[in-house]
Amino acid sequence: MIAAVVPAAGVGSRFVLTDNGRTKQFFKLLGRPTYIWSLSTLCAHELIDAVMLVLSTTTACKQVQEEVESYLTKEQAQKVLYTTGGDTRQESVFCGLTALATRPQKPDYVLVHDAARPFLTQALVSCSIKAARESGAFTLGVPVTDTIKRIKDGVIQETLDRSDIYAIQTPQGGKFQWLLDAHLKAKQENVSTTDDAAILEYSGHKVIIVDGSGYNIKLTKQEDIRLCEALAGLIETRESG
Ligand code: CTP
Ligand code: MG
Repeated sequence: MIAAVVPAAGVGSRFVLTDNGRTKQFFKLLGRPTYIWSLSTLCAHELIDAVMLVLSTTTACKQVQEEVESYLTKEQAQKVLYTTGGDTRQESVFCGLTALATRPQKPDYVLVHDAARPFLTQALVSCSIKAARESGAFTLGVPVTDTIKRIKDGVIQETLDRSDIYAIQTPQGGKFQWLLDAHLKAKQENVSTTDDAAILEYSGHKVIIVDGSGYNIKLTKQEDIRLCEALAGLIETRESG
């Protein structure tokens, strides 16, 4: 069994609220809330059996459930499970994993994907599943194309060799039990990370990189809205054409 966890419990502090006070994962991109874009892609994938959507305690779960049912097909919406998250992304993913672990059938593999990253494709999900099965621990990433420098107090300290530097995306994951155990270890040892690949690394797993996509961007700041809307428009045109 293959499951996904979609953390959607963040407050989006780097994103200025515009759309009737909706936090970024609920911001409407061409009429569809941002989180719905990747949620529907995951649910439409034939190999994904369940998707745990992690919401903050202040989000009205019933309303989200109704929204999910209105945008997804009945079959897709039936795959969606709901739970509440915590104050950090790490805690929210951990909540999603523990909620999956308490279900009658524990998943064999899990993919964690940010709700704020709308342009997931079926092909990226397929590559993620293949990597999860073959390596047990993976993340999507893309080689950086800009020159990367380390800065201190506004002054360049060092120019890094970018040939082995990647920008990391989601999905990330692998064997369900590996990721759950890695999260438990990090929690017990008070280790905080910003992604699940780091949690797996911390646990000693070899995490492989799967080619992501330049389009698989995260809605982070206000300035990302226009870019996301443009990409959303391209995708809709391609799908309807
Ligand atoms: N996330 C979460 N629970 C948190 C924090 C983040 O589920 N306590 C989720 C976000 O909703 C998002 C994903 O993790 O889908 C990636 O996090 P990020 O882009 O950092 O979102 P926020 O933490 O909400 O934004 P910011 O860091 O700007 O406050
Ligand atoms: Mg954050």
